[in-house]
Amino acid sequence: MNDEKQMNIEIIGTGRALPSKKVSNDDLAARIDTSDEWIRSHTGIGSRYIADEDIACSDLAAEAAKNALAMAAGYTGDDPAERDKAAAEIAGTIDMIVLATATADYFGTPSTACIVQDRICARNAAAMDITAGCTGFVYGLETAAGLLSINSRRKRALVIGAEVLSRMINWEDRGTCVLFGDGAGAVVVEKSGKNSGILQTLLFADGSGSESLVMRRGGTRNPFKKGEVIDTPICVEMNGQEVYNFAVKAITDTVEALMKAGNISIDNIVRIIPHQANARIVQAARRRLHIPAEKFYMNIEEYANTSSATIPIALDELNRSGQIKKGDLILTVGFGGGLTYGGNIIIW
Ligand code: COA
Repeated sequence: MNDEKQMNIEIIGTGRALPSKKVSNDDLAARIDTSDEWIRSHTGIGSRYIADEDIACSDLAAEAAKNALAMAAGYTGDDPAERDKAAAEIAGTIDMIVLATATADYFGTPSTACIVQDRICARNAAAMDITAGCTGFVYGLETAAGLLSINSRRKRALVIGAEVLSRMINWEDRGTCVLFGDGAGAVVVEKSGKNSGILQTLLFADGSGSESLVMRRGGTRNPFKKGEVIDTPICVEMNGQEVYNFAVKAITDTVEALMKAGNISIDNIVRIIPHQANARIVQAARRRLHIPAEKFYMNIEEYANTSSATIPIALDELNRSGQIKKGDLILTVGFGGGLTYGGNIIIW
């Protein structure tokens, strides 16, 4: 029914971090040619959180990581000093940090994961970033599970999805800028003998669609040239319709493939956590799959699309609010730039 090695990689703590500034659709409509009505009716988005200028990806990632670590150490309160104390107790036991992002602090090196490793004092942890677009957390969880499974000395890992997408957006392009928000989510995973944890993971990629969601400038393909005047940020360019069609199929195919691979009926799944890029994408996939709306956890109305942070933010919300319980079967499904897609089935 499942892969023995992955069976006992268990999530023992979750955390999230959002910037303090919440920006509504009306706030955006005061600056660009859009409206609350258009954004809501076309995407389901009502607001998003936007990081202040001095906040980078690692800042949100480290906060989410500390919250997840503190929970793993048994602290779920909201006193920052107590939270930090609890997180510090366990940070030295982390063997690996896998951080998924499309909006790293720096281009190329150092990895954002290394900056987080230092910030949270995870002195025994190896650290690396992975780039898998909005599927980054799903990829990251499988990467961490594999790295724990392959070496008996590794026991615990931190998997983080963190983004400051607001800094990689062309704020004059109303077709993209209304869609994205900033945030981070994290989980602590541990090798355990219990009959819970990651039951099944499937990862897919279709690089033939790489041009439909692309940050074109700044890399070795299109480097900045001497004397060039840069007056827009490196920003996401997107073929909305192409991505939309891909996304509906990605959710449908992944859910069906996970059910088959795990030999599980959809009736056994308590919650589906889809990547949230557009509520209409999820609705279209849901109708194709004939799955009731209540099974899908949706928070796009508040956060917009936070890319690799979306799924761990949702996991933390569900976990902290008691909406998922020990033994529940959870399904995650992600899709995004690359193009990438995939999902996990987790016994909570
Ligand atoms: N406010 C008001 N009008 C807008 C607008 C905005 N923010 N953005 C686009 N429009 C306009 C367009 O200019 C166009 O006007 P026109 O008909 O006069 O030319 C009209 O709305 C329709 O645009 P269109 O692009 O056809 O809208 P759509 O219904 O396809 O929705 C997206 C556009 C981007 C919301 C949709 O294609 C989408 O969600 N795609 C997937 C994006 C995604 O998921 N990205 C991340 C993947 S991880």
